[in-house]
Amino acid sequence: MGEKNEAILPPKEFMRRMPWIRSVDEYERLYRESIKNPEKFWGKQAEALDWFKKWDKVLDETNPPFYKWFVNGELNICHNCVDRWAEIQPEKLAIIWQGEPDEDVRTFTYDGLKQQVNRFAHTLKRFGVEKGDRVALYLPMIPELPIAMLACAKIGAIHTVIVGGISAEAVKIRIQDAEAKMLVTANGYYRAGKIKDSLEIAKEAIKDCHSVETVIVVKRIDKETHLPCCAECQKPVYSWWEQEMEFYDYDFPVECAPERMSADDISFLLYTSGSTGKPKGVVHTTGGYLVYVNTTMWYIFDIRDNDVFWCTADIGWITGHSYVVYGPLSCGATVFMYEGVPTYPEPDRYWELIEKYKISIFYTAPTVIRDLIQQGTEWTQKRDLSCLRLLGSVGEPIDSKSWLWYFENVGKKRCSLVDTYWQTETGGILLTTLPGVHSMKPGSTGFPFFGVVPEIIKHKESDEECNEPDLRRSQCSVGEMGKLMFSRPWPGMLKGLWKDPERFSKTYWHKFEKYLSGDGAVEDEDGYFWVTGRIDDLINVSGHLLSTAETEGALISHQYVTEAAVVGKPHKIKGNELYAFVVLGKEVDMDKEFQIVLVKHVREKLGPIYTIREIKFTEKLPKTKSGKIMRRVLRKIAAGEKNITELGDLSTLADESAIQNLLKE
Ligand code: PRX
Repeated sequence: MGEKNEAILPPKEFMRRMPWIRSVDEYERLYRESIKNPEKFWGKQAEALDWFKKWDKVLDETNPPFYKWFVNGELNICHNCVDRWAEIQPEKLAIIWQGEPDEDVRTFTYDGLKQQVNRFAHTLKRFGVEKGDRVALYLPMIPELPIAMLACAKIGAIHTVIVGGISAEAVKIRIQDAEAKMLVTANGYYRAGKIKDSLEIAKEAIKDCHSVETVIVVKRIDKETHLPCCAECQKPVYSWWEQEMEFYDYDFPVECAPERMSADDISFLLYTSGSTGKPKGVVHTTGGYLVYVNTTMWYIFDIRDNDVFWCTADIGWITGHSYVVYGPLSCGATVFMYEGVPTYPEPDRYWELIEKYKISIFYTAPTVIRDLIQQGTEWTQKRDLSCLRLLGSVGEPIDSKSWLWYFENVGKKRCSLVDTYWQTETGGILLTTLPGVHSMKPGSTGFPFFGVVPEIIKHKESDEECNEPDLRRSQCSVGEMGKLMFSRPWPGMLKGLWKDPERFSKTYWHKFEKYLSGDGAVEDEDGYFWVTGRIDDLINVSGHLLSTAETEGALISHQYVTEAAVVGKPHKIKGNELYAFVVLGKEVDMDKEFQIVLVKHVREKLGPIYTIREIKFTEKLPKTKSGKIMRRVLRKIAAGEKNITELGDLSTLADESAIQNLLKE
């Protein structure tokens, strides 16, 4: 916890759009109502959407943790995000896209977006994609990505967006697990002045993906690209996006009726790291998810007609799904999308874009803020940022120093700053302050959103080493760090793990009906929540969750590695970086050169986001008597701890020499 008592009042200039929630009292009244009668509260929020058929019941809790929202209701996500706005405000800009090269700008009105979506929806159908089929989208930050997502939503196909920066092997695992019928990719994209390839990775990935019948390739880069033809490979069939979109004459509008989806139908899968090796296919549905992201947009981002909303997250992550695509478009807002990185060609690229496109709401991650602080405050001063009215942060804990820098130099102390806590699994924001309503404490994620009931349960550091930690332990007192859980269902929550209901129940709900977040948190005396970070086997590097198990698996797959343990080491800009303890077969030299070999090996297996920054060779790993690696001890050693008495409870340690050796080196 930072300077927890220093609350900053909401800036006076901030006027909320919603008159019924202008004060803390109003928030508390509505919050109480949302908990006392969630069905009434969420039923009312759901009315902001168009339904083909109204639900019979808002929440069915008869089979926890398989909660059902808006039972028997029918709607279509694409209709709610595009078609209905194309009727009401056809000329309003839905998406403004800036490519990395300055001259690459494309804009889409709501009507224009609808045309593109309908064309791609027909393309999907022409290639035999039907309701319930999976479509893998391995695309960079270009407009074709939201267009393809919305087209899937229109016909009821399930999309799974695969983020860049992972290896062909990791892409393959995701496509195979989802059994995708189609893959959409691009022939490249721009990143920090370089052209990156995605097609080669895609081709490599699908060699063993027999479910893929078609590959559609967007010609993002003007370069000669050879698409394999059917004669060469039989299956899949490759085709250009641009060619398929021209199937219908551009002089005529193309219609495509939205599929009637049950509220409970799956809308998308998104893979996230798991505590065991295999990534988890998080399942989101249609009704509950859209109601939740839509409601959070209205209340937390206070979205208005003339806003230009910029969430900098890649759409391959949940933040991009919920707050680049579905949240803002479901409110009929104008979304800004950028292909490039924050510091290219100059360190003020983001500030330049805010000025140029008059961005009013800017939502980014602490790792970006820390990076931009390093570039120098003078870059923010060169640009006119007076168009901003609201700032947001997401993805990891933000330290109070970075928070204040963001608030003072970007928001000029005029803008409210919301620090929003949530996860891939939660669909939308769970903890936050409301802008213009709550005082802000730098580094705190504020209060529960409506319908959300957080609980902090006592945590013992050594819990991670027992198979069944006692989760019925009592609640923490004020100021005491514990495990963050959520004791009531909310509409945006994941509805399962793809093809793995058992893992879903085991990972998130344990033996009883509370959602386990995997994070630690503290509640202070004013009721503010402070999220301290992961307390399970996941490591947050630059806002991306990486799995220790997957990284260890990749290390061990090297013929000379016999054992490995990976932990997070605190890092000034990235939050954490990967630090590995490795036990080698006797015959290998434990030298620098071999460290480089191992780093490269893991990058090749899992992709560049899994770059290990430090490797320590050791002869033994510290383990409990039951054989579990004591990662909490290794975390302290990686952070530089040299004193054995500072390593916590060592009573279960099997062999003390394992630690003494590590401390000596
Ligand atoms: O550890 C928490 C951290 O990010 C994790 C979720 O990561 P992911 O599923 O990739 O989704 C990221 C974006 C929603 C959480 O378990 N996290 C997210 N937001 C915050 C945060 N930690 C502290 N403060 C936040 N605002």
